[in-house]
Amino acid sequence: MSRSDRPLVAVTRVIPQAGLDLVREACEVRLWAGDLPPSAAQLADLLRGCEGALTLLTDTIDGAVLDREPQLRVVSNFAVGYDNVDVPAATERGVAVCNTPGVLTAATADATWSLLMAAARRVVEGVDYVRAGKWQTWGPTLLLGQEVTGATLGIVGFGRIGKEVAKRARGFDMTVLVYDTYRDEVAEAELEVTFRPLDDLLREADFVTLHVALTEETHHLMGKREFGLMKPTAVLVNAARGPVVDTDALVAALRDGEIFAAGLDVTDPEPLPADHPLVALPNCTVVPHTASGTVQTRDAMASLASRNLLAVLRGEEPPACVNPEVLGRR
Ligand code: GLV
Repeated sequence: MSRSDRPLVAVTRVIPQAGLDLVREACEVRLWAGDLPPSAAQLADLLRGCEGALTLLTDTIDGAVLDREPQLRVVSNFAVGYDNVDVPAATERGVAVCNTPGVLTAATADATWSLLMAAARRVVEGVDYVRAGKWQTWGPTLLLGQEVTGATLGIVGFGRIGKEVAKRARGFDMTVLVYDTYRDEVAEAELEVTFRPLDDLLREADFVTLHVALTEETHHLMGKREFGLMKPTAVLVNAARGPVVDTDALVAALRDGEIFAAGLDVTDPEPLPADHPLVALPNCTVVPHTASGTVQTRDAMASLASRNLLAVLRGEEPPACVNPEVLGRR
């Protein structure tokens, strides 16, 4: 370690033990032990004097936070997404920002499929029906869903997770369309998928899954106009970030039958209050941002986030840094 043998680091929530142990071996750890995220003021206290921070996607790290802690050298986010961190502000101040790509790809693709299947086949409605004691007999038209096998899947965001979703679609004999701002023609050919402009994809797909990062460009990528393009039998799955979808437009589309159903891992707002219209809609299946939530994946995320943090503090190259241009600058 460059500045002291045991630098002070903040860990903003209890993460799986393997990660905490790694950090504790080398650092003085100031751990936020609450079940809920620290408030802005609590986060400021937690970060005071720290050289490193292992943060969650629920922590806002902006220029003002960074300015209060000029000794901070690394923000290691326990997530692949890092829209909670102002990366340009960090880069300007020479602070490395790290994330956890790769280790959560399969779990997130699996979860996308579980939401797709649940929404298409009305699994949660079925469970609620049984629990409510409504199951009287086998019904020829009871809780009919949409056929998945042989349907057309539209993948919006053809990065690591989108590609993994495409692989799984093969097992369902689907036609796969993809959209991204960046074309990966090699992967398109390998995975036998077809690129489409977004509007065409939305018109043609029976299932649309979202896997884009949240940026100014992708904020409300799916709004009233886009739902208007989709089939009334279509299912939307959001495994990206809540604000990629305009919530009011989604509520209207689900309520008015503009689309058949939605499966949401992420929402806007997040958390979603229990009395929110999306919760009440029977054709909306919402889970609490748990797409990467397997024991194995969260262990791997904890370990990677910790290795990222320690590498920067040791002056080494971290396994996953989103602004590598700052490395070695201080
Ligand atoms: C979860 O949403 C993540 O970005 O890892």
